[in-house]
Amino acid sequence: MNLSQIRDVLGKPYYQKDEFLIYNLDCISAMQMLPDEVIHLTVTSPPYNIGKEYEEPMPLEDYIKWCGTWIAEIYRITTRNGAFWLNLGYIQIPGRAKAIPLPYLLWEESPFYLIQEIIWNYGAGVAGKNFFSPRNEKFLWYVKSENSYTFNLDAVRDPNVKYPNQKKNGKIKVNPLGKNPTDVWQFPKVTSGKNRASKERTPHPAQFPVSVIERIIRASSNKGEVILDPFIGSGTTAIAALYLKRPAIGFEIKEEYCELAATRIERYLGMRGDEDLQPSIFKEESQTLLDDFYDSIC
Ligand SMILES: C[S@@+](CC[C@H](N)C(=O)[O-])C[C@H]1O[C@@H](n2cnc3c(N)ncnc32)[C@H](O)[C@@H]1O
Repeated sequence: MNLSQIRDVLGKPYYQKDEFLIYNLDCISAMQMLPDEVIHLTVTSPPYNIGKEYEEPMPLEDYIKWCGTWIAEIYRITTRNGAFWLNLGYIQIPGRAKAIPLPYLLWEESPFYLIQEIIWNYGAGVAGKNFFSPRNEKFLWYVKSENSYTFNLDAVRDPNVKYPNQKKNGKIKVNPLGKNPTDVWQFPKVTSGKNRASKERTPHPAQFPVSVIERIIRASSNKGEVILDPFIGSGTTAIAALYLKRPAIGFEIKEEYCELAATRIERYLGMRGDEDLQPSIFKEESQTLLDDFYDSIC
């Protein structure tokens, strides 16, 4: 199913440009309208139930059940060889945990096959007083089929190799495209440290860094395959998808963020083709989700 067929099913979007559709809808209702196996890759970060401006905190059990509902929908609409990348942080459980990783709580809620957990490490953040300063979030890499999924390693190799000319039996040992980037990724944020003032920073409190999403989309999809972000916020997933020539769909419950995403896409498309501006959009962008949360527990 291509994007225009998906549009026929979902109706008129809030905004459409190039190969991008954004709907001002609750993602569960929106996904329920879609037929099975139409999305190749979903990349998202949901609300963490920590009282951000875009969420109404729920009792923990309700939150876990709600997550199970949208994860099940993502599973149903994912193609047989498709993937789901889920960014998750931590929450506090009074009397049990200062900061429990959300993946521990959501393990039972996912019918996907888990390939691996990626640690996203960032340099700046709050300073812990009676515990180590938090500097990571997780990306869970899920696939629908354990035996059939996309992994374009050459598209995401890290060219920063320490000994590029090292030889074994007279042959250069290192792949000329670079090394495997490993399961620990370092990308800066825009909401902490010096990147707070980045020109790519939007008012959205949980903006993804484009650079992380770019790596995920390169690794887990091919040109032309449809990408979904059911909690699209400021539109970061769409920018990375459009840059990499993948059609994209976003759902967002708050109209002001739909507007923000639309404005951001317009701006990106205006910059497209300008070689001087292009790299900055992908190198300087970054985000945080949990600074306020850590501020509250430090
Ligand atoms: C963690 S933020 C995502 C930020 C995004 N990754 C970015 O780069 O801007 C979660 C987003 O989900 C939206 N949201 C919350 N509940 C939703 C729902 N039921 N359906 C669709 N969007 C929802 C929130 O308004 C918020 O913008």
